[in-house]
Amino acid sequence: MFITSRIGSEPIEIGMVLGSGLGDLAEELSDSVAISYKDIPHFPVSTVFGHKGRLVVGTLEGKRVLCMQGRFHYYEGYGMDQVVFPIQVMHALGITQLLVTNAAGGVNTTFRSGDLMLITDHIRLIADNPMRGPNYESLGERFFDMSNAYDEELSDLARREASELGMELQEGIYMFFAGPSFETPAEVRAARILGADAVGMSTVPEAIAASHLQMKTLGISCITNMAAGILAQKLTHSEVMETGERVKERFTALVRAITRNWPV
Ligand code: HPA
Repeated sequence: MFITSRIGSEPIEIGMVLGSGLGDLAEELSDSVAISYKDIPHFPVSTVFGHKGRLVVGTLEGKRVLCMQGRFHYYEGYGMDQVVFPIQVMHALGITQLLVTNAAGGVNTTFRSGDLMLITDHIRLIADNPMRGPNYESLGERFFDMSNAYDEELSDLARREASELGMELQEGIYMFFAGPSFETPAEVRAARILGADAVGMSTVPEAIAASHLQMKTLGISCITNMAAGILAQKLTHSEVMETGERVKERFTALVRAITRNWPV
């Protein structure tokens, strides 16, 4: 495979999808090899401002990891199958454990902008699903369980490491919206009634593909803003980026601690 010809065949212990604000962590890997998405056969190319488009493989906290520095979003126009293609590539590289991170809007009114939230489950009400279409039995089952989409053991690890660092870690349900418009205040109220604690435009397709592949997944959101209608202010992409920047150090410290103690 093209990627192994560049990175070698040493096993990779953790796949990481680095969302807004966390991308710089990929620069901190040692002995790293970076491959631009545009050079990888069949890979889509990331278009959103603030995301680099590279796979970076290297060592972080003693673990060999593969980072997606920037991801593909449904709102960019990709099909769900393209959005999750890199997860399937990780599987093909032998990766069985995944960390997914993102920026999200806070729906739970006890949250504050800048909080980190462990994703305990998700809600996807839009009809599209990355596994729609022919099923490849070699990858996974046609009908597959989503009741442990966010792994309990890895979630406990995240709770433990946050507590060791004296860091507050919120928990909750992440609800997927296709974007690119932010939600309306009515949609945010509806999301809250349905049980959501945060809303966002990523992660859910990847978590579904990972479950299909029986990969263990840990999900963490950075609450970069309160969702629409909660505070008397407009939502902007720059607020999302600014909070991501402000939280970066804390988020990075948590991800490093989790990686150091990740069970392999
Ligand atoms: N809504 C959807 N996606 C987001 C938000 C939001 O408020 N903030 C960051 N990503």
